[in-house]
Amino acid sequence: MTATLNTIPEILTSIEAGVMTLTINRLDKKNSLTADMYAAMADAIEAAQHDSSVRAFVIQGHETIFSAGNDISDFLNKPPSKQDAPVFRFLRGISSFSKPVVAAVCGPAVGIGTTMLLHCDLIYAGDNAAFSLPFVNLGLCPEAASSFLVPQLMGYPRAAEALLLGEPFRVESALEMGLINRIVPPGEANALAQQQARKLASKPMSSLIETKRLMKKGNAGVVAERMMEEAASFGRMLTEPAAKEAFTAFLGKRKPDFSAL
Ligand code: COA
Repeated sequence: MTATLNTIPEILTSIEAGVMTLTINRLDKKNSLTADMYAAMADAIEAAQHDSSVRAFVIQGHETIFSAGNDISDFLNKPPSKQDAPVFRFLRGISSFSKPVVAAVCGPAVGIGTTMLLHCDLIYAGDNAAFSLPFVNLGLCPEAASSFLVPQLMGYPRAAEALLLGEPFRVESALEMGLINRIVPPGEANALAQQQARKLASKPMSSLIETKRLMKKGNAGVVAERMMEEAASFGRMLTEPAAKEAFTAFLGKRKPDFSAL
């Protein structure tokens, strides 16, 4: 049986065979994420956490694009300033979600499109997937505890290329570093994520939850603390001149000029 939840057209959710599936669906803007979309995503995760019929969670985009990250107009016009902003609510929700999360990622995964993956358990990527963390290029700093988790995952030198230079990395590097589980043709990623989530959903829930808790226990405290610290800096930097220059440049389809900043 499929149940469709009340969300918004840009965030589709359904529950089938014990799996809640969340689809990012804003193709005309490359699946960039607005405050309303984060709120819907946070609500879906919260509902999945409390609904005992949900035993695994899938996040997916389109086979051409996972997400272009935060909506830049939203960054400019309604920057998240408080810890209870929808984006931070979503990040806290996914990072502390106790049941397994499977992601299918195809095409670009920019900013939070990549950092949210650090909180997923299994990730299946299309061979067109590309990951980038362009926070510095936008006058910002990392979020989602990525300043801790990215160096831990890939080592400091490669983290510096990704986070200081903001250089994208391709799917093969992501596989080699252990960010993702498998590379598949883009048309197969969502189906594989679904298949793996259903496998998880058929296993004993208490064992899954306890195993995930134990695997994450070493990082849990520092992840929560780092997310708070990053959010405070990120919120402040969003309204500073470097970020404003980056956002107006993106929206005006020109290169940013940081020479005076
Ligand atoms: N916020 C708002 N709008 C966005 C967006 C974002 N993050 N990313 C893309 N869009 C919009 C573009 O402005 C464009 O809108 P328009 O058709 O009204 O002009 C539309 O989506 C298509 O984007 P475009 O850049 O033409 O697509 P592309 O295929 O050439 O490139 C990306 C795709 C994802 C590589 C590119 O859009 C990109 O780099 N986006 C910004 C990523 C970013 O910096 N995100 C913030 C991370 S913290």
